[in-house]
Amino acid sequence: MTSPDLEQIKAFVFQVFHHLEGAVVSGMIYLGGRLGLYHAMNGAGAVTSEELAAKTGLNERWVREWLRGQAAAKLIRYAGDGRFELTPEGTLVLATDASPAFAAGIFAGLPDQFNVLKQLPESFRTGIGLPYDAFGHEGNRGVELGFAPWYRSMLVPMALPALDGVVDKLQAGAKVADIGCGAGVALIEMAKAYPGSQFHGYDIARYALAQAETNKKEASVTNVHFHDASGDAIPGDGSFDFVTTFDCLHDMTRPDLVMKAIRKAIKSDGTWLIADINAKNTFEENLERNPMVAMMYGFSVMSCMSSALSEPGGLGLGTLGFSEDVARKMTSDAGFHRFKKHDFENPMNAYYEVRP
Ligand SMILES: C[S@@+](CC[C@H](N)C(=O)[O-])C[C@H]1O[C@@H](n2cnc3c(N)ncnc32)[C@H](O)[C@@H]1O
Repeated sequence: MTSPDLEQIKAFVFQVFHHLEGAVVSGMIYLGGRLGLYHAMNGAGAVTSEELAAKTGLNERWVREWLRGQAAAKLIRYAGDGRFELTPEGTLVLATDASPAFAAGIFAGLPDQFNVLKQLPESFRTGIGLPYDAFGHEGNRGVELGFAPWYRSMLVPMALPALDGVVDKLQAGAKVADIGCGAGVALIEMAKAYPGSQFHGYDIARYALAQAETNKKEASVTNVHFHDASGDAIPGDGSFDFVTTFDCLHDMTRPDLVMKAIRKAIKSDGTWLIADINAKNTFEENLERNPMVAMMYGFSVMSCMSSALSEPGGLGLGTLGFSEDVARKMTSDAGFHRFKKHDFENPMNAYYEVRP
């Protein structure tokens, strides 16, 4: 192998620091969300740091430095004369919680999610990872807020009507389970839309389950029940009309066993909606076709694969481990024989309608 020349070394150093820039700017996005800076800029036009500091009750010098960094990162537009503004797309992505494109939520969990890096060297040695509870309250909130915009804007109006016969059953009064429900946002959205149906959420993360109870109270819904799946798993009594698993099968130590439990729990004419990462079938395809693949392998080590290896014998699928081929094989092995792929306008996820 020939030695690199100075230009190649410089280019590589630049590439490495580009990743550090991403990490540090992510920290600034966390602060912008946490301090309400983006929301305060929504509809405010081009503001000075003094105006934004007054509006948010924050210190002007700190706000000015943050604004300059955001403009340098091209997240906020510098309008000249010490004025900064959110662009229309910046407003949707950083300051509009109800928008399906809202992306600032996921940054809320980053500090506590990065915190697990201190424990991961041990996991690399032992092979045993950490469950979602290792992220604590805020880390789990970041997971919740990252997924919530799609549930709030797309699940009920767009996804459910595309599933064969599911809306009719929900209107008539159905029994529904969401396995790996996290903080319960998807379940609560469905429960609000279909008050005559009963909804059961199952998870093993106590921080997520505690937040689910808070979310349930805030939504004032009475047809939702959350269960700690470690001691109160879905009953295998063939009573469920509709089961959902949103972005969690690849996080489970034994998704194969959970799938078999779902098969026992679901009626013979029931429907199971799976959402999982839109992973390609091979590493090479992911590398070539997924522009965010490096981030996804990072999240896999920090959370998904770590969770999926958090007990001895875990299958360890990880963020990109549940491709369509894997989904087809595993659902078939669990006793599901009808499989249909949907595109529900979420580039991150693939959706599968699976039936016995
Ligand atoms: C990426 S989060 C997704 C949470 C939720 N579905 C959402 O979209 O916000 C994955 C969830 O799967 C849960 N999980 C992992 N293994 C599980 C198991 N065996 N049974 C139930 N939940 C599990 C984790 O605790 C975590 O809350």
